[in-house]
Amino acid sequence: MQMPLTNRPIQAAPPANPLGAMTNLLQTDLQAVNALIMQRMQSEVTLIPELAGHLIAAGGKRIRPLLTLASAALFGYEGTRQHRLAACVEFIHTATLLHDDVVDASDQRRGRSSANALFGNEAAVLVGDFLFSRAFQLMTEDGSLEVLRILSGASAVIAEGEVLQLAAVNDIGTDEAHYKRVIAAKTAELFAAACEVGAVVAERGAEECAALRNYGMNLGMAFQIADDVLDYAARRERLGKSLGDDFKEGKMTLPVIRAIARADAAERKFWSRCIGDMEQSDADFAQACAILARHDALEESLAEARRYAEQGIAALAAVGGSPLRGHLEDLIVFAVDRDY
Ligand code: IPE
Ligand code: IPE
Ligand code: MG
Ligand code: MG
Repeated sequence: MQMPLTNRPIQAAPPANPLGAMTNLLQTDLQAVNALIMQRMQSEVTLIPELAGHLIAAGGKRIRPLLTLASAALFGYEGTRQHRLAACVEFIHTATLLHDDVVDASDQRRGRSSANALFGNEAAVLVGDFLFSRAFQLMTEDGSLEVLRILSGASAVIAEGEVLQLAAVNDIGTDEAHYKRVIAAKTAELFAAACEVGAVVAERGAEECAALRNYGMNLGMAFQIADDVLDYAARRERLGKSLGDDFKEGKMTLPVIRAIARADAAERKFWSRCIGDMEQSDADFAQACAILARHDALEESLAEARRYAEQGIAALAAVGGSPLRGHLEDLIVFAVDRDY
């Protein structure tokens, strides 16, 4: 029995990982997308498939292409345009990861050495550029100006978000509004675009396209807040990324912003030294975790992520009742408490 959506509670215990169920349901589509990804990452310049293949073969959840597939299927679309667009979305994502790991000096990605750690920063940046360009080729091959507008727009906004974030690094005065502006741009925009283009290929009207976009935006916000919480949570390593990267880089994420808002003089001095001046000793990360715990900053951040999840579920109320809608609802709830 379907619950009235706007009243649907965010459960205390999250549902089982809904990505599995979505992957099963969309298996044929996803296989077509994966085949396209493998085919279109090829180049005669062998370093390109070698480096891109290192990251792509490591898997990744394929959550963004799944969103495009799910959104098209939600409206009963029976063509194949969504395959190319889902591959395009994953290429944009993969390119941003290559660049992001250079900027963040991250040495782990998807449980492996990052491409920059293995091949060097120069190669990672350039192959990232190649994947971005491939994404644009895929967009234009679709032929719809509307799709091109959405995906090229997302690509520009992601870059803006990463630059905006760079400008706030080490600034302990960064406020929550600024943080949200950053994550909306660097993360949520691509989730929103991935969902929206699915509705666009299914030729839905403005209201349903906007509903899917709105859902994706809220999912992206919840997803990134959860990622930022996991940077301070021991289970982070299950994500195949290193613990404490954000702290080491002096990134102002929601848990830290919340803790600084409540800091006493000694704590303020601690954050100022570690994040502002980047003077960190080995014991400081544990100390940071202890301060976050004292102020309930991780729990509070997750509560904020849950608010986005609720808004995302409410946005879906505007679309019909396919079983996929239930999976999308589960996905946004699960994203908050995820350990994947
Ligand atoms: C990582 O995204 C980047 C963030 C927005 C936090 P994912 O967690 O979707 O990465 P993969 O593709 O599954 O590795
Ligand atoms: C995610 O940002 C990267 C992009 C959305 C471009 P983060 O730097 O927070 O993500 P991880 O933790 O490296 O995956
Ligand atoms: Mg990063
Ligand atoms: Mg992060």
